[in-house]
Parts: sequence; structure tokens; C-alpha cells
Amino acid sequence: QLMQEISGLKVLENQVKEKFQLEKVIVVPGNSDDERRVKQELGKACVSYLKGVLEDNMTIAVTGGSTMSLVAESMTPLNKKNCLFVPSRGGLGEQLENQANTICAQMANKAQGEYRLLYVPDPISEKAYQSIIEEPAVKEISNEIQHADIVLHGIGEALTMAERRKTPEDQLKRIKEDHGVGEAFGYYFDKSGKIVHKVRTVGLQMEDLQKIKQVIAVAGGTSKADAIESYFKQGRSNVLITDEAAAEKLVKG
Ligand code: BG6
Repeated sequence: QLMQEISGLKVLENQVKEKFQLEKVIVVPGNSDDERRVKQELGKACVSYLKGVLEDNMTIAVTGGSTMSLVAESMTPLNKKNCLFVPSRGGLGEQLENQANTICAQMANKAQGEYRLLYVPDPISEKAYQSIIEEPAVKEISNEIQHADIVLHGIGEALTMAERRKTPEDQLKRIKEDHGVGEAFGYYFDKSGKIVHKVRTVGLQMEDLQKIKQVIAVAGGTSKADAIESYFKQGRSNVLITDEAAAEKLVKG
């Protein structure tokens, strides 16, 4: 029976892979909406995938979120030379435990790697943004981030994320009116994958993803299926680590 279950997951992996034209899909059993254990399995799968692709002297950029925080929890020493962890973008208005900085430091400590953090007020006005990106210290870390070799990121439901980040009322209204369903890196997407809103911050911008070889999305749960689909409509990451419940909804449409 176990063999049957495993082969069922393999079928799902291939179907999702075909659907979004991805390089690699990993599906863990269960539904992260119902069980924290399943989210922990996503974390473990991510760590083991990372170990397979990581080389000496690589930089790994990570986002925040509860899923990424479980990736950090599962992290073990990477046994590679000069691995640097950086947050992918600013705090995006998240609580400390969900912020990329926090998770980045935790991951690096468990991996026995180095880390560098990004200190910017966040979200930030256009005017302040233009001047802060000229600060030498900010420029230096931004540069490390933009040249990351590997990106690990979460995907969230648009409204869940907007509310969690205490997004101002007018912006929230716009995300709703424009039918935002998914969110990643502070960008909000509608069903067709179009960007409907973006949080202004330093660090990784959507266009930077194109030149990064390993962009690994980690997201599961039935509730995230539409969000995952909206994000992958424009094919922005090459690896997806998800769970059975989300994968089933993704392939059934
Ligand atoms: C955030 C990331 O911190 O976590 C988002 O910046 C992502 O891009 C979100 O959507 C996912 O959070 P969670 O808690 O659902 O893993």
C-alpha cells in the first residue's frame, strides 16, 4: 500500500510538472491546511532538495513566512564552504517571526553558514526608497541578493497576506477589485498571473528571478492552490515543493 501511495504522489508530481513546465516538483503526502506536520514535511523536502543543488561559495536568498520558518527549523549543517544566506527582500510589513531577516538568520545558524541582513524601513515611500538604495551598505547587500544562486520562497493567498501585513485600506481595496489571488515576494497576482500590486522595498525584484538558476517555491494546502497557480502562470520559479492536497487541486483545475 505504501508503494501505491508513493507511486500516486509520483504521478501527481509529473502532472504538476507538465502543467507548469517546471524542472522539478516534489509532492509530500497530506494537506498543510489541516496539519502542521505536513508543513514540516515541506520544510524537510526543501532542505533535502537544497542539499542536492548547493555548491561551495553559493548565496541563498530566502523569503519570510510560516512555511519558510519550518524550512529553517528543519535545516541541518550544509557542509559547504562559504555559504551565505540573505533575506530576499525587506520585511514587507510582516511580524518579526515571519520576516525574511529572522528566518534567514535562523537558517544560516542551523546550516552553519554565514548571513547578512537587510535593514530597511518597510514598506517604504518612493522618495525614501530612491534615497535609501543609494546608501553604500544597502547597495552592497542588495547586490548580494540580486546575485543569489538559489532563492527559497513561499507563496501566499493574496488577501491573507495583505491582511497579515496590515496593508493600508486603499491598497487592500485595489487588490480585491483587481481580483488578486496569489502573492509572492510582496507582489500580488490575479488568476492570469498579472501583477496587480507590489510592495515597494529593496532586494529581489521579480525581473531578477530570470537569471537565477534555482528558484524554489515552497507552498502547500488546498487553500493555496489558486495562489500557486496564479504565481506559476508566468513561470517565475523552476522548482515547486508542495503537498498532495494542493497538487490534486492544481491538476483537477
Ligand atoms: C511571506 C513571503 O513572508 O510568506 C510571501 O514574503 C509568502 O511571499 C508568504 O507569500 C507565505 O507565508 P506562509 O506563512 O503562508 O508560508
